[in-house]
Amino acid sequence: MKLSVTDRIEVRPAQSCDTDLARAPWDLDAMPGYGPGASRADVIPEPVSRPGQLPQAYREMSEEELHGRIVAAKEALGERLVILGHFYQRDEVVQYADFVGDSFQLANAALTRDQAEWIVFCGVHFMAETADILAREGQQVILPNLAAGCSMADMADEDSVEAAWEDLCAVYGVDPGAIEPDAEGKLPVIPVTYMNSSAALKAFCGRNNGIVCTSSNAAAVLEWAFERAHRVLFFPDQHLGRNTAKAMGVPLEQMPMWNPRQPLGGNNEADLLEAKVLLWHGFCSVHRRFTTAQIDQARAEHPGVKIIVHPECPMPVVDAADAAGSTDAIKKFVAASEPGDTIAIGTEINMVNRLAAEYPDRTIFCLDPVICPCSTMYRIHPGYLAWVLDGLLEGEVHNQITVPQTQARDARTALERMLAAKPR
Ligand code: 13P
Ligand code: SF4
Repeated sequence: MKLSVTDRIEVRPAQSCDTDLARAPWDLDAMPGYGPGASRADVIPEPVSRPGQLPQAYREMSEEELHGRIVAAKEALGERLVILGHFYQRDEVVQYADFVGDSFQLANAALTRDQAEWIVFCGVHFMAETADILAREGQQVILPNLAAGCSMADMADEDSVEAAWEDLCAVYGVDPGAIEPDAEGKLPVIPVTYMNSSAALKAFCGRNNGIVCTSSNAAAVLEWAFERAHRVLFFPDQHLGRNTAKAMGVPLEQMPMWNPRQPLGGNNEADLLEAKVLLWHGFCSVHRRFTTAQIDQARAEHPGVKIIVHPECPMPVVDAADAAGSTDAIKKFVAASEPGDTIAIGTEINMVNRLAAEYPDRTIFCLDPVICPCSTMYRIHPGYLAWVLDGLLEGEVHNQITVPQTQARDARTALERMLAAKPR
């Protein structure tokens, strides 16, 4: 069945949590607050000028024409091209992806397509940066819409993390440039960045004995870090950090929040000395919407319902659910269920809808009754995909993501530590 753009996503502005979604994604290309390195507070000087904006012709093309162009370009480019799609992408984009997966799987998928000259990443900016960091020399990574950022990733910037690091080193009595293990063979603190962060922060971790994690390996990564250090500075997502460390037995009292706008992150020295995990004050605006009241309602209305949520959800929600896991873990949870089961899911709506369509013999629904797609993932529209693929056919690379070499080298160090960190 061929659906129209609006049919497939069923975004009805009045019911959506984000009014941006009622607009065409190209209306938002030049708006501040999203995209590479942007923060919600950034003011972009007039006249607004951003590279890589979608030409008018592609904004006006019919769905059929876009489809024809994408299919033809894929065929012509063959093995020279690989298209990666995150689970949160809309269906009308996912249909063209050679790999669909979570952020960890997509980082690995980029590695396995050595012969591809171009990696077109249908996801968000930090994912494309990661692909570029891991790509072999000569491969080019393309993000079809440069305004596809991640508001959570933007909540930790390099300057604030560097400043926090200096403060922490002062409290722990070490020189930030030369941190050595103590008599126990442990460092005072190790930085751990969630994959959802800029390349600059991954590089910061690489330079400072740190590591990257994703939602599918956060526990293994924290174990790795605790073998080497007394504590961890975890950024940007407080919820993933808290949920993971709590499940490993770290008491909440030893997980103070680090608010970059306050002196010592809003803590006193004694708390910082006692801390095991310092949680950056960041969150995902999509997953923050899930509540225990929604879980209570789902259990009341659907006795026997199984509930799984993403670990970016707040701790009370994760505690009240039957399971929590990365997007791939959610997919596997559904695959392992039985026909006739009812499953409520706490994650992005495109993924939930796709699972519901894949398993029509089960009742699968989103915990949040208000439709809440990730508004930045949603910025990848087939129009952008057709445009970047047509560009490749014409010998032009639009919207290439290039991480500067030194930054890429340090970030790769932190990513390779992650890829090597195996659960015990
Ligand atoms: P995964 O690592 O589970 O793919 O999640 C990425 C993400 O952005 C979740 O909001
Ligand atoms: Fe970022 Fe949240 Fe969107 Fe994931 S769902 S890309 S964390 S804003």
